[in-house]
Amino acid sequence: MRILITGGDGMLGTDLREVLKSEDLIVTNHESLDITDRNQVMEKIKEYKPEIVINCAAMTDVDGCETKKDLAYKLNAEGPENLALACREIDATLAHISTDYVFKGNNNRPLIEDDELGPISIYGKSKLKGEENVENILDKYFIIRTAWLYGKNGPNFIEKMLELAKTHDTLTVVNDQKGSPTFTKDLSKGIYELIKSNKYGTYHLTNSGSTTWYEFAKLIFEKKKIDINVMPVTSEEFAAPAPRPHYSVLSHDKWKNNGFEELRNYEDALDEYLNLY
Ligand SMILES: NC(=O)c1ccc[n+]([C@@H]2O[C@H](COP(=O)([O-])OP(=O)(O)OC[C@H]3O[C@@H](n4cnc5c(N)ncnc54)[C@H](OP(=O)(O)O)[C@@H]3O)[C@@H](O)[C@H]2O)c1
Repeated sequence: MRILITGGDGMLGTDLREVLKSEDLIVTNHESLDITDRNQVMEKIKEYKPEIVINCAAMTDVDGCETKKDLAYKLNAEGPENLALACREIDATLAHISTDYVFKGNNNRPLIEDDELGPISIYGKSKLKGEENVENILDKYFIIRTAWLYGKNGPNFIEKMLELAKTHDTLTVVNDQKGSPTFTKDLSKGIYELIKSNKYGTYHLTNSGSTTWYEFAKLIFEKKKIDINVMPVTSEEFAAPAPRPHYSVLSHDKWKNNGFEELRNYEDALDEYLNLY
């Protein structure tokens, strides 16, 4: 398959490149293909003629999106729109990565793809607009909603915790947000399975199981045998600039019902990640 990746130097992009290396791969990054530049997107996609475009480019700084709203929408909504228009032009498929933050987060059971959407942050709202743009332009698309990513090529929660532990005896971590930490290597394998099929549409895809950031932090320190005091706090006490859903565990029922294998449990994935170092 001839596959073009955007945002190929990002955290997910880097693992996807590895997983897809036996394919006819065109990897682009911010410099070589700016997804906000409609003319450039159209030109490059027509030039390379991929069968599939995987969009890993995005503005992922959730707090930063609150103050840089225009940039958030340009990247997370207009970017996928440009890619979808270009894909339509050459009859290519677009696999677009989205987020659990398109949900409001007031449920207490795993969310299915058709559950009511209601993002509470600019990041979530801009990503939802991106999804809508893709759906409105293309028939042949995959939207993959994932969550709480970590991988070896990006700043992530695990690295942040390990870094902070070097200089602190006590850390406060939010305990009222529940989700599924997901290893970008596992996600990449899932995306590969999906794009080999023609089962178009929107899917939820994360590692299995769920936890809170506080519980996850404790697990990381336990596995790394780091002796540190971890204190649970509420999102309100933590006061991050952007609001986050309290509950955003994504159901894998649609994934499994379409014959795909569920990704392994987040604890097993964490073991492998921690052993990489
Ligand atoms: N990280 C998470 O926890 C998480 C959770 C749920 C969903 N997601 C989604 O998963 C996808 C991948 O996330 P990630 O964590 O791998 O993100 P990431 O590491 O921040 O990578 C995003 C990439 O996009 C590139 N980029 C920025 N502006 C661009 C532009 N105008 N044109 C082309 N490329 C541009 C960035 O390059 P520069 O750094 O050079 O600007 C970066 O390499 C995103 O769609 C994100 O919304 C992420």
